[in-house]
Amino acid sequence: MLQVNMFDLVKGFSGVIDMVNTTLASHHQRTAVVADQICLRLSLPPEEHHRVVISAMLHDVGVIPLHDRTDNLVFEKEMTRHSQAGYLMLRTCPVLYEEARVLLYHHTDWQMVRELPEAERAVGVIGNLVHLADSVDVHSRLNPELDYLRCIVKNGIGRSFEKTSAEAVLDFMDDPAFYDMLENSGQYLDDHPTPELILKDEDVTVFSMLFSHVIDSRSPFTATHSTGVAWIGRALHQLAWLDDADRSTMFVAGLLHDIGKIGVPNELIEKPGPLDNHEFKKVSHHAQLSLDVLGGIPGFEKVTPWGALHHEKLNGRGYPNGLTAERIPTESRLMAVADVMTALTEDRPYRAGLDEDKTMSILSSMVEQGGLDGDLVQLVRDNYGEVNEIRRQAQSEAAGFFRNLTDDIKLRCPDSRF
Ligand SMILES: [Fe+2]
Ligand SMILES: [Fe+2]
Ligand SMILES: [Fe+2]
Repeated sequence: MLQVNMFDLVKGFSGVIDMVNTTLASHHQRTAVVADQICLRLSLPPEEHHRVVISAMLHDVGVIPLHDRTDNLVFEKEMTRHSQAGYLMLRTCPVLYEEARVLLYHHTDWQMVRELPEAERAVGVIGNLVHLADSVDVHSRLNPELDYLRCIVKNGIGRSFEKTSAEAVLDFMDDPAFYDMLENSGQYLDDHPTPELILKDEDVTVFSMLFSHVIDSRSPFTATHSTGVAWIGRALHQLAWLDDADRSTMFVAGLLHDIGKIGVPNELIEKPGPLDNHEFKKVSHHAQLSLDVLGGIPGFEKVTPWGALHHEKLNGRGYPNGLTAERIPTESRLMAVADVMTALTEDRPYRAGLDEDKTMSILSSMVEQGGLDGDLVQLVRDNYGEVNEIRRQAQSEAAGFFRNLTDDIKLRCPDSRF
């Protein structure tokens, strides 16, 4: 049974979105700090406060499926597209439906929010507050002088930003700890959690599905990989008669096993030739990143090793920790098998998926070399047709999700390139 505080989950994921961009390091968490300080100064009701901070931590998630560089955001290009993409992605997760709507307005100036129909205005106001917090962080990097920042905010009052929120930010800037709080945004958020909203199995699963789409949407090379691994992992878990109560934990671990890939440059994930030593080190670092991100989420004590240890090998030659067999849990071994099987059987932009004979022969040779667990590979051999069909169907559904997302964005932003 999974139980996670939504704030912890979103904080973990916001750290991942921040890995995409090195020029705007910690952007989402810093934006959340500013947003939190505004809420505190305005004494917003807890529910609204929670919504503001969660939205701030996820606000540019729509950049990832668009394959944009997030540094473009410094110069405020293509604002509509990533706002729409973020909305369309988040709204697939029922517990994030309101935050999804906020994302639609996170670049909308106050002049426009003011004119929104009554029913939409409340969400527009929160979007404008995130817009303000976002602008403060982006401008603080362009020029860290406080006078410059004050000027940006003051000039925007009534036009770009709502007055009371802008005044709250100006008040925050008078705090001598202003820059310290931004610099230590991760610690700040740990110290200032918003009210607890505990998510259980089903919600954590839907949330993780959303994030698996974010992970995979970075590149056509990873297209629907996380979905494939999760479903094979789940199917093998069931066939191995491992504890039923852990099935959704296994599924979530599969969805998030490669979450650290978001921190690997796309040109390496998509490199056509073999990787040199230095490049391999960078790519394999994703396992350590997965371990760090998942390990930082309270409630993910099982998800973390089951997901992040998928490149460990029984002979101790795997990574990130070079663990030997006795220290690799069965579920992590199972994830390793699911990962390799998915990688071999799924279609890649440069080749079609391999057939059963080739897949089984590669899996067997990995057992002989001491990499994979022989019993679990035997389980695949005995159930190949069923397991592979589960993967195929799930990946084809995930591909449909991306096609719909692309079509929706085109429809909503007809003049955008995509
Ligand atoms: Fe944005
Ligand atoms: Fe932003
Ligand atoms: Fe991996």
